[in-house]
Amino acid sequence: MKRYQDLDELLNQIWAMVEQGSQDPDHPFHAPTFGTVSAHTPNLRTVILREVDLQQRLLLFHSDRRAQKISDIQSHSRVTWHFWDSNYNAQLRLMGKAELHFDDAIADAVWQRSYPNSLKVYLKPIAPHTEVEQPQSGLSDKAQVEEGRKHFAVIQTRIDEIDFLHLHKDGHYRAHFQWQETGVSSAWIIP
Ligand SMILES: Cc1cc2nc3c(=O)[nH]c(=O)nc-3n(C[C@H](O)[C@H](O)[C@H](O)COP(=O)(O)O)c2cc1C
Repeated sequence: MKRYQDLDELLNQIWAMVEQGSQDPDHPFHAPTFGTVSAHTPNLRTVILREVDLQQRLLLFHSDRRAQKISDIQSHSRVTWHFWDSNYNAQLRLMGKAELHFDDAIADAVWQRSYPNSLKVYLKPIAPHTEVEQPQSGLSDKAQVEEGRKHFAVIQTRIDEIDFLHLHKDGHYRAHFQWQETGVSSAWIIP
């Protein structure tokens, strides 16, 4: 990746990489880290970036509505996405406010357009995080995918801040972008 000198051009490149991450399972941005605030500690986990809406700066993934991250978001809606591309030596952090969708049109639409294989995990009759005696997935063989709809949640984040760091052989550099009512402000900052 080239060493960017223009903030607007860099921002376009960042969004292009994020969008590509949502579309290409082999892209390093396909499985980022999603961070929430819980009562006692930050909570980080890998998720699959499913969809990106560039116009609205929305990132979307899905989850089980009984998961810890859901209650974290219900208490603290500010979240952070972390991406690392080892080919480009670039780190990206996207901050924003998360919204939960359970039984609404957004969750229905994502459920409908998802591959059944990616929905099987929501069949688990036992809630995530429940203690069991043996290592097991908690999946029931007999259940139909449709039965998992009641556990399915869509988590959408509206991004309002970006921190980008590029470790470049000609000099590391870092950029910060922030959206307010009046628009986006951008700056180079010291890495
Ligand atoms: C490669 C990979 C992809 C994952 N994708 C998702 C995902 O899209 N949604 C999700 O809820 N959990 C996903 N997980 C599982 C989470 O990392 C995490 O273990 C689980 O959601 C429980 O997190 P929580 O207890 O903090 O809610 C993924 C794990 C891995 C290793």
